[in-house]
Amino acid sequence: MKMVLGIESSCDETAAALVTEDRWILAQAIASQDECHAPYGGVVPEIAARAHAERLTPLIARVLDEAGVALADCDAVAATAGPGLIGGVMVGLVTAKALAMAGDKPLLAINHLEGHALSPRLADPALQFPYALLLVSGGHCQLLRVEGAGRYRRFATTIDDALGEAFDKTAKILGLGFPGGPAVERLAAQGDPRAVPLPRPLRGSAEPHFSFAGLKSAVLRAHESGKFAPADIAASFQQAAIDCIADRTSRALETMDEVSALVVAGGVAANRGIRAMLEALAADHGLRFVAPPPALCTDNAAMIAWAGLERLAVGAPADPLDVSARPRWPLDPNAEPVRGAGVKA
Ligand code: KG4
Ligand code: ZN
Repeated sequence: MKMVLGIESSCDETAAALVTEDRWILAQAIASQDECHAPYGGVVPEIAARAHAERLTPLIARVLDEAGVALADCDAVAATAGPGLIGGVMVGLVTAKALAMAGDKPLLAINHLEGHALSPRLADPALQFPYALLLVSGGHCQLLRVEGAGRYRRFATTIDDALGEAFDKTAKILGLGFPGGPAVERLAAQGDPRAVPLPRPLRGSAEPHFSFAGLKSAVLRAHESGKFAPADIAASFQQAAIDCIADRTSRALETMDEVSALVVAGGVAANRGIRAMLEALAADHGLRFVAPPPALCTDNAAMIAWAGLERLAVGAPADPLDVSARPRWPLDPNAEPVRGAGVKA
């Protein structure tokens, strides 16, 4: 039974996990840095890197201890090698390199997005390739056809902000603190989603790309007008976001070859309104809907260990110890850049 130690440090969660090839998460630990970044209303890269450096080694020791496992028992050490905040990524990757070298274990440099993309298969053994994936996090908003470990076709991405970023900025405008997604969702439950007229950027356009910058500006204008209650703004924003995703995802599914399921992953996949809409959309397209439990949707190390196991399963080679950390690392190297400023990955 193969077992991989996973390490995640690309944003503001420091995490370690031990996962087996038969999908047991033997132990995992996540140290959130929310309280470090909350005063600044967003993640401060230098603070994040320092916090990772302080926390990671004890976290790994705790995970090994809890599972009653030694490094010698692991088949590989997997760590996020990008994309992400480069200081934090380097902390995790260098730690993994040191462990791999000391324990004479293969090193697996994992694309963080691949961790998100394959996490649904950790939660659901029945999920088969290929599947359509909506990957929605603080840094990314993409529609992909997941064809296998290491095999992705990107159908759409955002031409400006990521969806999680739009939630976080809306939370900031409404004074809800950081991280904003869960707070916006809670407040939205008390508001009227039809109260505030907000745009649905790119709805109906032929290419299935996303755009959220205009929606965020409209939220700011609505708030500054003083005419609307914060709960109504939150509810209307969330509804606009849901409408955009529904339209764009539907468009992508029309152009995609056959898939086994519609899958959502990434931190924003924790949002119940978005899940409910996607479930209905999948049914309309005659597809199964799969969403990992919220703890596997937000950043974690179990998904990194699992991506490592998927790579081992297809016989992919280990990475050399001098592999570099990458601030940008698209899942589909053939995807064309999209128009629009501030394009993410
Ligand atoms: O995947 P993730 O943990 O980190 C990144 O790789 O970015 O995603 C974090 C993002 C944040 O923007 C957060 O506000 C958003 O996911 N998020 C949510 C919810 N929970 C987390 N957005 C909307 N509704 C939620 N319930
Ligand atoms: Zn993430």
